[in-house]
Amino acid sequence: MLKSTVALVTGASSGIGAATAAALAAQGAAVALAARRGDRLDALAADIRGQGGTALVLESDITDQQQATDAVERTVAELGRLDTLVNNAGVMLLGPAVGAPLSEWQRMVDLNVLGLLYCAHAAVPHLLRAAQDSPRQVADMVNISSVAGRVARSGSGVYNLTKHGVGAFSESLRQEVASRYVRVSLVEPGATATELASHNRPEVLDSIRSQFGQTMDAGDIADAITYIVTRPRHVAVNEMLIRPTEQVR
Ligand SMILES: NC(=O)c1ccc[n+]([C@@H]2O[C@H](COP(=O)([O-])OP(=O)(O)OC[C@H]3O[C@@H](n4cnc5c(N)ncnc54)[C@H](OP(=O)(O)O)[C@@H]3O)[C@@H](O)[C@H]2O)c1
Repeated sequence: MLKSTVALVTGASSGIGAATAAALAAQGAAVALAARRGDRLDALAADIRGQGGTALVLESDITDQQQATDAVERTVAELGRLDTLVNNAGVMLLGPAVGAPLSEWQRMVDLNVLGLLYCAHAAVPHLLRAAQDSPRQVADMVNISSVAGRVARSGSGVYNLTKHGVGAFSESLRQEVASRYVRVSLVEPGATATELASHNRPEVLDSIRSQFGQTMDAGDIADAITYIVTRPRHVAVNEMLIRPTEQVR
């Protein structure tokens, strides 16, 4: 369904991003894979190519504005266009705000907010062009938020801040570009088994482990993203909140 389209997925070296890139490639999209761990991207690109797909590896730290912009521009230069941007790269560093290392707050804002904005800023002109001149006449930006972008809780304040911000920006941009057929969608996953929690300090990890219940797989979220970007031109899925069935909060 995505034949002759081009998608850029940030955070494609693991978890939801890797699963999404593979899923979009399986639908026929040429995929650009952005993240810092080039070896992981190379392995995913080899898998995609092995199945007859097209993949471009972009070893990039998107908290650096130049690298984020370059990732978008190289996608267009080497794959010819940009129909779909999946703004997925993110980090979740939890724990009490009182006494938290400021560096953790900075990492979350730098990646979840600024990194996403750098990619969005560079991509919007290309998405507008794709919506105008591609056979499908529609383009997509899918921004990955979280249940944490809907509800704030003690112990996740800055992660909540970043994901609420992603939601606000997405809705505003959606209104701005809707009539030009760039669909801006927000995906809000609940607990999903990925590397995300592993970046927390050991004491924080111990306390969040005890709260882990049922989880989804990265592929479950990739399915949702694939559904969103394969809708007909006149259908825009604005927002999707997805929890494991047993997740209450
Ligand atoms: N897992 C969940 O339960 C869950 C729930 C709700 C929302 N989410 C959201 O889903 C998104 C994906 O997370 P995930 O769960 O799949 O976790 P993950 O496996 O840790 O993936 C995070 C991705 O972000 C990339 N990344 C980190 N720093 C980067 C940087 N500076 N520049 C470019 N890429 C960078 C990582 O690659 P490198 O380290 O190679 O750069 C990795 O590919 C995040 O936005 C997260 O907030 C996850």
